[in-house]
Formats: sequence, structure tokens, C-alpha cells
Amino acid sequence: MAKLLGGVGTSHVPSIGAAVDHGKTQEPYWKPVFDGMQAAKEWIAQARPDVCVVVYNDHASRFALDLTPTFALGVGSEFQPHDEGYGPRPVPVVKGDAEFGWHLAESLILDEFDITIVSDMTVDHGLTVPLSVMFGQPDEWPCKVIPLCVNVIQYPQPTGNRCFNLGKAIRRAIESYDADIKVAIFGTGGLSHQLQGERAGVINAEYDNRWLDRFVAEPAEVAQIGHAELLRETGSEGIECIMWLIMRGALDEHVKVVHRFYHVPASNTAYGLLVLENK
Ligand code: DHB
Ligand code: FE
Repeated sequence: MAKLLGGVGTSHVPSIGAAVDHGKTQEPYWKPVFDGMQAAKEWIAQARPDVCVVVYNDHASRFALDLTPTFALGVGSEFQPHDEGYGPRPVPVVKGDAEFGWHLAESLILDEFDITIVSDMTVDHGLTVPLSVMFGQPDEWPCKVIPLCVNVIQYPQPTGNRCFNLGKAIRRAIESYDADIKVAIFGTGGLSHQLQGERAGVINAEYDNRWLDRFVAEPAEVAQIGHAELLRETGSEGIECIMWLIMRGALDEHVKVVHRFYHVPASNTAYGLLVLENK
């Protein structure tokens, strides 16, 4: 039976990827951010998951507004980094796990989560930056990846509660997979940030930290927070944090905090990082 090792929450700020790609992680601006990631890197290097389910959002890269799946699961055997305007990131190709991916699709859909099944997709910074955060700059990513893409950019987005319940269904799917593999799940995006409009630059460290406390201790309540509150308190792109609830839903109610880190700013975003294990 497959085993869920733990969950990781991390922002996926593109400039973090650029700092890695251009050798800037030790510069004064970035060093505190990358120092704060070290314990998470050590955790995953020791846990050695065979597969990471990476919950992320596509930023109008593979999916534009002509096609907006609420939840899209990548069941292909590889996913190339998307060219977001400056050429694709110089990172390894992301290797999928078609057999496990199709198992997840079957289990989720029969569990009444009607996800979109995608065999051919590129992946943008939403997925590749978290891999850089956790694994640095290897020649090949040390695990297979199942991309789970969530619509957080086009109204109407799924509720936090839907995300939380999808996480629970993912846990059931992992535990019904008849292979001895170790799995980790990442929730990415957030925390508070707003990239455009009159309130561009919004960061709300007090709200983020309170949200992180409650995300660990009382996730079912955090899942009830509505989008209007998230937009008001954390900015228009802060709503990405609902993707963390998929990761949290896959874990037990009571979890151990292995690592928690928060830093402001990472370009114009509040950077948050959390590593959780079941107790
Ligand atoms: C930026 C983009 C993102 O997708 C994000 O989650 C945070 C920041 C940016 O362009 O700075
Ligand atoms: Fe984003």
C-alpha cells in the first residue's frame, strides 16, 4: 500500500526560481529566504518520497481563459517547463507517474470529484518553483511528480472547503494504491500578495501568521473562510492559499509541525513554508 509521508506548503514566487537559476541565492536579499528553506530540504532529503503530488495553479500558461478546469490532474509521463516569456526555466523535465496518476484519477472520480484528466501539459512556475525550493538544482528531480492544477485565477474558484475535501479524497486514493511507494503532497501559492490593481503590493503578515496557526490546528474552520475575506485580507492573488487546504485535507486532523518559516518580502509576496507530518 502506498504511504503518505507528509505535506509541504510553500509559496511559488517566480523570482525565487530566478534566484536559483541565476545563482543569486546567497546574495543579501535572498540569503535569509533560502536559509529558511534549509530544514524543509533536509526533511525531504531524508523522507525520500517516490512521488510528490504537487497542487499548484497554472498562471494562464498551459490553460488560458478559453479552457479553465477547476481541478486538472496530470497523468502523463513527463511535463516540460512552460516558456513564460523568458524561455523555459533551465530545470529538469518533470517526470510523471502514469500508473499512479490514472489510479488517482479513477479513485477521485469514483469518489465523486470530477477532475479533468490531462495527459499532455507543460507546467509553469507554480509547479517548478516549489521543486526548486525543496530540491535545489539537481540534474534530475529525485522523485516523480503528479501535477494537480487548481483554478484560482478565474472566478468562480472552488471553495476552500471543496479543496479540503478533495485532499481527504486524495488521502483515500493514496491509501488504496496497491504499490509500496512513499508519497508527499505539496500545496503551493500564496501567501498574501496582490500583483495588480490599486492595491498592488498588499502584504498582511499578521493575517498570514494567524492563518498559518489555524491552518495547522483547526483546518476545518480555515476551510470555511470565504474568498471575499481572503481577497480583502490577503490581496487578489492571496487566494492561492486555498491550494494548501488540499494538502492539509490529505493529512490527519492532528499533525506535527516539522518546519515553519515566514518571510516578507520575496519580491512583492509574503513567502510562507510549512512542513507537516501525521503524528
Ligand atoms: C508572483 C507570481 C505568482 O504566481 C505568485 O504566486 C507570487 C508572485 C510574481 O509575479 O511576483
Ligand atoms: Fe502564483
